[in-house]
Amino acid sequence: MTRYQELQNKLGKAPKSWLVTGVAGFIGSNLLEHLLKMNQTVVGLDNFATGHQRNLDEVKDLVGPEQWQRFSFIEGDIRNLHDCERACEGVDYVLHQAALGSVPRSINDPITSDGTNIGGFLNMLVAARDAGVASFTYAASSSTYGDHPALPKVEENIGKPLSPYAVTKYVNELYADVFAKTYGFNTIGLRYFNVFGKRQDPNGAYAAVIPKWAAGMIQGDDIFINGDGETSRDFCFIENAVQANLLAAAAGKVAKNEVYNVAVGDRTTLNDLFNAVQSALAENGKSYGKAPVHRDFRTGDVRHSQAEVSKAESKLGYAPQYRIKEGIKKAMPWYIKNVG
Ligand SMILES: NC(=O)c1ccc[n+]([C@@H]2O[C@H](COP(=O)([O-])OP(=O)(O)OC[C@H]3O[C@@H](n4cnc5c(N)ncnc54)[C@H](O)[C@@H]3O)[C@@H](O)[C@H]2O)c1
Repeated sequence: MTRYQELQNKLGKAPKSWLVTGVAGFIGSNLLEHLLKMNQTVVGLDNFATGHQRNLDEVKDLVGPEQWQRFSFIEGDIRNLHDCERACEGVDYVLHQAALGSVPRSINDPITSDGTNIGGFLNMLVAARDAGVASFTYAASSSTYGDHPALPKVEENIGKPLSPYAVTKYVNELYADVFAKTYGFNTIGLRYFNVFGKRQDPNGAYAAVIPKWAAGMIQGDDIFINGDGETSRDFCFIENAVQANLLAAAAGKVAKNEVYNVAVGDRTTLNDLFNAVQSALAENGKSYGKAPVHRDFRTGDVRHSQAEVSKAESKLGYAPQYRIKEGIKKAMPWYIKNVG
């Protein structure tokens, strides 16, 4: 039995109370779905800045009425300390996901990204510390590797940030470290690498590449590749990220006050990704015949990204179950159903 299976059994027998911030977003709503299906009690906090009521409605339809009753939602803002305090009341485990994602968004409006991602993060740390929660796990980011050239990315070797977004996520790690040293408040940061899956928003200027391309191909639009297409990423299916969160929440003290890469350890170029999304669509009976359109590289993007995940494997018991093609295959029916 894997550490994850053991944990699921344990939580099934002795349910906990969880807070998921950013619960109406992509990762948050997937965490909510998994936790409710395991009969956990969940409080969710979101201000719908980039999340959607429809994500919560979809989770409601996927879980039973009894499980849905274990969920309470607070429409609130992490920039407001009182909202954070309310959300943390009586909670065992915090999974802090709320933030403004996207490198280009942060370049266009660094002040708003800073306010949410740094000010909001600090509020959550203070509220969770004062509420005496048992654990605090937060969404960090692979963008923290910045301009460090080494591949694969190992947790202790980071470079300089390449965008305001990357600064905010690095500051989260610095605050988390200082909270451990000064208040003995122990946290775990999960450096996500390009997470993808159902309910990831395909719309808007700041959509991530997989949902944007899936939706574009379904609608027969042109698909744009920024640069020559040899830019690479370690795409991580949502189920792997959910697993990492649950393992981190329940981790013992030796695993705390650390950051962990959450990915697969693979490297996929954008050119290969284009083919993978096109094939998954074809397997679902839909064809996309256009060639991709190449345009300029995007400011702030790192050229290559690939994670070393052995730290999460050894200290958290993380064992990613899905590689990119399996993940895209699982996610595609959702895009076909929900786009267009
Ligand atoms: N998706 C990825 O590939 C990826 C990679 C690295 C890090 N992350 C981080 O993971 C977390 C979740 O990302 P996601 O992909 O689910 O994005 P998302 O935009 O779908 O979800 C973020 C959620 O946070 C909420 N939110 C934003 N500002 C808020 C505020 N001030 N108060 C309360 N709620 C607020 C949004 O409404 C949204 O529901 C973020 O912290 C993001 O930076 C994601």
